[in-house]
Amino acid sequence: MKVTKAVIPAAGLGTRVLPATKSMPKEMLTIVDKPAIQYIVEEAVNSGITDILIITNRGKGVIEDHFDRSPELEERLLASGKKDVYEEVVSISKLANIFFIRQKETKGLGHAVNCARSFIGNDPFAVLYGDDVIIGEDPACAQLIRAYEKYGKAVVGIKAVPEDAISKYSSLKVDKLEDNIYSCTDMVEKPKTKEEVLSLYSILGRCVLTPDIFDILDNTKPGAGGEIQLTDAMKTLARTVGMTGVDFTGKRYDMGDKLGILQATVEIALQNPVLGNSFREYLKDIAKTL
Ligand code: UTP
Repeated sequence: MKVTKAVIPAAGLGTRVLPATKSMPKEMLTIVDKPAIQYIVEEAVNSGITDILIITNRGKGVIEDHFDRSPELEERLLASGKKDVYEEVVSISKLANIFFIRQKETKGLGHAVNCARSFIGNDPFAVLYGDDVIIGEDPACAQLIRAYEKYGKAVVGIKAVPEDAISKYSSLKVDKLEDNIYSCTDMVEKPKTKEEVLSLYSILGRCVLTPDIFDILDNTKPGAGGEIQLTDAMKTLARTVGMTGVDFTGKRYDMGDKLGILQATVEIALQNPVLGNSFREYLKDIAKTL
C-alpha cells in the first residue's frame, strides 16, 4: 500500500532550547532562511507524501500561519516588484494538504501520535519528528517508505550512536537483511548496564507505522518522565510482529538541542547557493582567530 500520509508531532515544550522556545516553537527556529519544520515538510513532499497532519499545542499558531497564505504580505511583494520572493512565499502554502490538530496536554510523543488516529484511519503513515531535520539527496522518509513497501512491516529510521551515549537512547536488537536495512525484533529503552545493550543502533527521527500502533498506544502506560512514550509502543510492535530498521543516509540535525541548531545553521548555510561562498570565507577568517 502506498504511503501518502504523514504526521509531524510538534507539540513538545522544547525545554532544552529555553529561553528561545518560551514563546517560539522550536520547530519554527530558523535554519538560514527557513524554519526547521519547512525542511521537514519538504522532505515529506519529496518522499511522495500528499497529506500531512501537524500536531500542535497552545502557542504554536505561528506554524499554521507559516503554511497559510499571507495576502497583505503577498500584495506588498507584488507591488514592489519582488516576484521571486512572492512566488516563494506563495509556494509554501501549496506544498501539501496540511492539517492541524492540537495535543491538548503535553503527555509525550506516543500520546501526540495517538492524536492522529482519525486522520490516519486504516492507512500506513510516516512520522517525521518535528525537531529532527535531515538533509540528504535521497530523502530519509522516502528510504523508509521504500523499505515498508518491500518488507510490509513498520519501519524505523536507525543510526549507530557512540557507545558512551547509548544509555541516553534506545538500543535495538537488529539482524541484517541487506546493505543498510535490518530486521528489528526487540529493544531496550535507555540501557543502564553494558549487558542490557542489544546494539549501538537507536531509533532516530523518522518512522513509518501501521495503524495497529494506535491500539498499542491506547494500552501503553506512561513511561519515562510520566509521558506516553512512542518507543514503548514500538517495543511491543518489535517483539510481536517485528519491525524493519533503515540506517538512512543523510545528515541529521537535532533542533531540540542548542549545539544541534548551531551545527544545522553552519552546515546548511555552507550549502546555500547564494550565501554559501561568502559564508565560507567568513568562517575561514574566524577559524584563523580560534
Ligand atoms: P522531544 O522529547 O524531543 O520534545 O520530542 P520536547 O518534549 O519538546 O523536548 P524537551 O522538552 O526539550 O526535552 C520529539 C518531538 O515530539 C514532539 C516534539 O515537539 C518534538 O518534535 N512532542 C513531544 C509532541 O508533539 N508532544 C509531546 O507531548 C512531546
